[in-house]
This record gives sequence, structure tokens and C-alpha cells, in this order.
Amino acid sequence: MPKTTRSGFATRAIHVGQEADPLTGSIGVPIYPTSTYLQEELGKNKGYEYSRVSNPTRSRLEVNLAALEGGTSACVFASGMAAINALCARFKSGDHVVCGNDLYGGVPRLFNQMLANYGLEFTYVNTSEPAEVERAIRKNTRMVYIETPTNPLMTLTDLRVVSEICHRKKVELTVDNTFMSPYFQKPIELGADLVVHSTTKFLNGHSDGLGGVIVCTSTGQAEAFAFIQKAAGAILSPFECWLVLRGVKTLAVRMVQHDRNGRAVAEFLSKHKKVKKVFYPGLPDHPQHDLARRQMSGFGSMITFETGSLANAKKLLKAVRVCSLGESLGGVETLISHPATMTHAALGEKGRAAIGITDGMVRISVGIEDVDDLVADLDHALDSV
Ligand SMILES: Cc1ncc(COP(=O)(O)O)c(C=O)c1O
Repeated sequence: MPKTTRSGFATRAIHVGQEADPLTGSIGVPIYPTSTYLQEELGKNKGYEYSRVSNPTRSRLEVNLAALEGGTSACVFASGMAAINALCARFKSGDHVVCGNDLYGGVPRLFNQMLANYGLEFTYVNTSEPAEVERAIRKNTRMVYIETPTNPLMTLTDLRVVSEICHRKKVELTVDNTFMSPYFQKPIELGADLVVHSTTKFLNGHSDGLGGVIVCTSTGQAEAFAFIQKAAGAILSPFECWLVLRGVKTLAVRMVQHDRNGRAVAEFLSKHKKVKKVFYPGLPDHPQHDLARRQMSGFGSMITFETGSLANAKKLLKAVRVCSLGESLGGVETLISHPATMTHAALGEKGRAAIGITDGMVRISVGIEDVDDLVADLDHALDSV
């Protein structure tokens, strides 16, 4: 059975790190719910000593996710935010990070309300303008941190151009690839040094567990993040590692369906008279549609649209029946949310206004239900607007 990193994506998702259990032949990776491991004698063990440091179920997931992103290794954490925190846990007071100004709201919350207290410095720029990234890089800059497409405005950053700037300036480029998953976008191939995910989303895919991963491209990075797992302890439990291992087996087929449904819903919304604007890179009128076609192999299923007012957004969100009102994204079920009061509430009114998040915006993570049911649900809900 082909298990190398040269196999196709779906084969890697199902087989790399997912080999049958050598002890029993179990076709699924076993969950090892253990905190510690029997040692044969002092200094002699089977490679595992304590589960904060390493656990066989976790090791399997880390091998799998590294293979999917095309990295050299990966480290998984208790949530996407724990992974993003680990990125910065390598830095010292006085170090500087350049980041996108339109990120998942929890990221600036972590940076401004926690890490800034430890002396880390953050500059927020529009990373879709590479010149702004270059201008913001200083002598003490350690990392450029980007989401593409962004959450919720679906703005893209040209990863080839920004990675060239970062390499010239000797600054690490980290890309949050949560929205696209490695199925549609491969930041490392485009020059990124690190990839981060909230595995809570498409990688797990079933809205039943939180998690985060950092995919590395060097042994130095791998050692630093393994140390942070051991020293700070925000690791992913064996059961949740197993949920992601099970989820990624269907990542390829899920992403194809998410993309198909996403395109259909975006097209429907873009033609609806009550929808003022649709933010989806797959629509030809998206200002970066050409970049999306070059940089991604699909457009995914994250769509933001403008209803015109908070009152309209409220009416729509109350009227949906198939779409579920809730935080998060990337599950098999369609999740609909209101960025201003949910994912991006922490930015405050001024912060949201500065980047163009309005009270009338609604974000939808299109699931893999029958698309006719989704369109009928949205059509009916838009009647109440
Ligand atoms: C793009 C993106 N990155 C990171 C996170 C944080 O991940 P988690 O909720 O698993 O901590 C989120 C959460 O919504 C997200 O949307």
C-alpha cells in the first residue's frame, strides 16, 4: 500500500500515520489513554515516558498532518489558539510580529490583551498589499503572521510574493490555513515556513472536538514546538487526536463537496436582491479572483454577505432552519454566524469599523448537506429581511 509522501492527497490522508496497529492489526489507530508508560529499567523505555511529552495516538496524528501540508513535522495543541500561542511562546520581550489586520478575532485578543503584556510587539497591516508587509518589518521582527483568505472578509494575500519578502528579510512566514485546508491550499509549497490550523474546523470536520496544529519545515522549529508542548503542556488529548485522525480520512471528499456547495450558495446569494454584497473568492467579481485561481485549487465554502443592517441580520439568523446559528466553521453541517457580535466581538466597534466589518454582515460555513435544501433555507430566511 503506498504510504509515502509522494502518494496522492486522499491516499496520504487515509494511510500516512494511519497504518494498522502492529500489535493487533486494528485498522484504526488505537487511542492510548495513558498518562505514563512502564519503564523496563532506569533509562530504558519504548520511546514514550509521559503523555504531556508524547503519546502514540498524538504521534500518529502529527505524522499525518505534516504529510498533508508537505512539512517536515507537526505538533498538535489543545486548540487553534493554543497553537497560535505556542508560535509566540518562542519569542522574547521586545520581539515584534507583523500580522494581518483582518484575522480571526481571537488572535488580536491573544496578541493585544495577553502577549503584549509580556513585551511582545504587534503591527497590523493589510497583508493583501505586500508593500505594507515589507514596510512594517523591523530589525526585531521575528514573524509575519497571515490568514488567507481572511476571516470574515475573504481577502487574499499573495503567498509567493510575501514569502519572497520574508525570506529576503530573514523573517519567518506563518500562514493560518484553516479556511482552505491543505486540500485546497499548500502554503509551504508557496514559500511559508510554518502553517497553523485550528483542527477544530475542516481537518476534524465534524464539530466534535477542538484542536490546533503547527506544521514545521525545519528541525529547529520542530524542537522548539516539542519543547513548548512539554514545558507549557497545552497538548491535544489522545481521544481528540483520534477524532482528527478519523476526520481527515474523509477530508478530500468533504472538501470537494464543501467547494461545490460553496460555489452554488455564493452564486445564489450574489443574485438575490436582498443581499447587498457577497465576499467569496470564487465569484468572478471578487477583487482577487485571479489570485484565488492561481493560489488555491478550490474556493472552499466560507462566504460572508451583507444584509444591510443589524436588524436584517437578526431576522435572517432567526429564520434559518437548516443552517445552524453558531460559532465555528468547517463542519459537515452548515453553520451561520454574525461576526460583529460573535467571532469578532472582541475587536470592539472601532476595530471592526477600521477593517470594514459591519453589523449587517453574516458569515456562512457551507456544509455538505443537499445544496437545494441550503438554498431553499436561505431563500426563505431572506424573505423575512
Ligand atoms: C481562522 C481561525 N484560526 C484560528 C482559530 C482558533 O481556533 P480554535 O477555536 O480551535 O482555538 C479560529 C477559530 O475560529 C479560526 O477561525
